[in-house]
Amino acid sequence: MKQLIAGNWKMNGSLEFNQALLTALAQGLETAPRAEVALCIPAPYWAQFRVLCAQYPALKGVGLGAQDVSAHPGGGAYTGELAAAMLRDFDCRYAIVGHSERRQYHGETDDAVAQKARQALSCGVTPIVCVGETLADREDGRTFEVVKRQLAAVIHANGPCISEAVVAYEPVWAIGTGRTATAEQAQQVHAVLRAQLMAATARADRVRILYGGSMNAANAADLLAQPDVDGGLIGGASLKAADFLSIIGAARR
Ligand code: PGA
Repeated sequence: MKQLIAGNWKMNGSLEFNQALLTALAQGLETAPRAEVALCIPAPYWAQFRVLCAQYPALKGVGLGAQDVSAHPGGGAYTGELAAAMLRDFDCRYAIVGHSERRQYHGETDDAVAQKARQALSCGVTPIVCVGETLADREDGRTFEVVKRQLAAVIHANGPCISEAVVAYEPVWAIGTGRTATAEQAQQVHAVLRAQLMAATARADRVRILYGGSMNAANAADLLAQPDVDGGLIGGASLKAADFLSIIGAARR
């Protein structure tokens, strides 16, 4: 299975910035076999992305992703929300759900995250389900317990359909801090998540488990070489074309 390298731009970008970044990515992306690539970019720029995809063949295979999706079905009084069906209308292949910044700043619960994954799956959008422990959790020896609880909620709401999801392990203490989990720490948690998926579906081997948290050009190869690391969810380094391209280059194709 190809690895998946997904960029999470978060609340970054502008028409001018995106034009330069996407053009540089298009020029650097191999058209030869490469890892699967996705870009989770702010919704107002989806149309710009599509225009540039039409212009640069190298961008055509890049999957578009949203950074969140509503837990409610389409059509309803939910100001500010984006329904999974709307994502589908824009050919969004992925939607990040349960990112730690949304859990922290928007009070998203495990149940809400599970419903978001459910809505995405029901519309043919692949949820990228984020799980991860805080520094306090890790220091208390609760890492496995926390990530298993977060994933269990999503499995409970989706049953064997979980085989259609992507999971991302993102230790909260490593996000945007420059402090990365070691390859061994990542592999340990990924193996626990894989075992949990195996108990839920016979197709757990096809669920990609991404690592996220200060992945960069220097540490990507080591992290991506771990047996249960199936790709990366990249924040800061996805905003720099050279760094993002070198992470893609380090991934299995
Ligand atoms: P980072 O972010 O690569 O900047 O640590 C990763 C993420 O939050 O998805």
